[in-house]
Amino acid sequence: MLGIFDSGVGGLTVLKALIRINPDIDFIYLGDTARVPYGNKSKKTIFRYAHDDIDFLIRNGATQILSACNTVSSLPLENLKSSYKIPIYGVIEPAVTAAVRITKGKVAVIGTKSTIDSHIYKNKLNRHGIEVFEQATPLLVPFIEEGWVNKAITDDLVNIYMKPIVESNADTLILGCTHYPMLYENIKSATGGKLRIISSADATAEFLSKKIALNGSGNTKFFATDSVESFKKIGAAFLANRFNGVKEVSL
Ligand code: DGL
Repeated sequence: MLGIFDSGVGGLTVLKALIRINPDIDFIYLGDTARVPYGNKSKKTIFRYAHDDIDFLIRNGATQILSACNTVSSLPLENLKSSYKIPIYGVIEPAVTAAVRITKGKVAVIGTKSTIDSHIYKNKLNRHGIEVFEQATPLLVPFIEEGWVNKAITDDLVNIYMKPIVESNADTLILGCTHYPMLYENIKSATGGKLRIISSADATAEFLSKKIALNGSGNTKFFATDSVESFKKIGAAFLANRFNGVKEVSL
């Protein structure tokens, strides 16, 4: 069974994309909502949280793991993989591969402070001769966790963050945080349709679906470490009939 984790509801964007391609997939999802956001914390703390998340998923039957979180995947993931015997996948490489395929030469990346400070996207894209404009957008995750997607204040925030992106003359934008696809329409409108938008969620779902067998019998389990009411609302709105409730757990 595939175990998927994120700091909160962001990983649901990867899950939704996975379900679109593999409707019968079996999975167990953990949102560490008690400790979200991860993106402003130190690497040492994020590393510790990621271990807790993975250990929980393994204890509950996961036989392979997807870190549906750019912040954890940019640690980098290799540092975590060495502690486990089961496969652990991340979200960075698939987004990089998609960007290399479609850019004409300049890519903008948005993500949490931790992801942007790691320069993981920049370093990987530079190796392909691609110029990169990086920008941390740390306020977006708290807005999304709050369910504030269709609010004027959210559009204002997105507009402020997107101005330098548009001015950078990049032709492609990577949403380097799995929460951000929930603001896809806001971001698209703030950038005036001038950039091709790559979601690390969609790119990862396509990559994983080709790499591993993801069929099953539609067994689904959701866990969160806090704020289950808010998780429920967002989960039900975002995943519709595939969402069957969420159980609160401590790690
Ligand atoms: N979805 C996580 C990511 O992709 C959110 C990070 C956070 O909790 O700050 O980075």
